[in-house]
Amino acid sequence: MSARRAVLLVGSARPRGTGNSEAIGSYLLERLAEGGMDTEVLHVSRTQRPEKERQLLQAVDGAELFVLSTPLYVDALPYLVTRSAERIAAHRTATPVPSAVGFVALVNCGFPEWEHTKTALEICRVFARQSGFAWMGGLGYGAGEAIGGRSLEEVGGLIRSLRQGLDVAAEALLAGRPVPEGAQALLARPMVPSRLYTVLGSIGWLRAARRKGTLGKLGDRPLE
Ligand SMILES: Cc1cc2nc3c(=O)[nH]c(=O)nc-3n(C[C@H](O)[C@H](O)[C@H](O)COP(=O)(O)O)c2cc1C
Repeated sequence: MSARRAVLLVGSARPRGTGNSEAIGSYLLERLAEGGMDTEVLHVSRTQRPEKERQLLQAVDGAELFVLSTPLYVDALPYLVTRSAERIAAHRTATPVPSAVGFVALVNCGFPEWEHTKTALEICRVFARQSGFAWMGGLGYGAGEAIGGRSLEEVGGLIRSLRQGLDVAAEALLAGRPVPEGAQALLARPMVPSRLYTVLGSIGWLRAARRKGTLGKLGDRPLE
């Protein structure tokens, strides 16, 4: 077994193989694997049972790098991610941790501006400090829904700068360095102008409302 190991925890509640966080995290993990690291992927939705939780704690303890890739839920981390983070923090503060482990966080959100992820990234940084991880940096990405759960290669040129930013991050992490600021600058590049994204998003909502037969009710205010 290689001494270098990276563990990815996917923070989405979406089924395996369908989420944007998994697509982003897997892309980074593939770059780390190309650089010689062993890799393992775990999902928060599957770490609720005690044996799965033990598997997560052991995987993190045995890793050189712990990667969290998660969606933003209501401007913060999803409950299942918070729950896993609390378990990991309790474990790592109660028992002597076997080795230095780096922690890097990737947070994607639905709105086009990546800045919505800043609070969640700060929560991740504090989690790293309180749990004895070496903070290797965090990256925020907006308009995550444009990925549609596909692999980043499949999405193509629209998200070229996301792939470039993750490439830069992987290169630094493989060299044992934190994610450089230039990586966030690449992820911050809007894939489409935010006004166009809003128009396309509105069309999506209107289509969904028509499918569900609620088009005429969008202006309703039942609680007023
Ligand atoms: C319950 C819930 C809350 C969300 N809250 C936010 C939010 O506060 N801001 C935002 O920009 N996107 C929000 N989103 C959108 C997700 O962050 C976005 O769709 C993300 O790409 C989903 O990633 P996934 O496919 O890995 O689950 C929310 C989605 C859900 C389901």
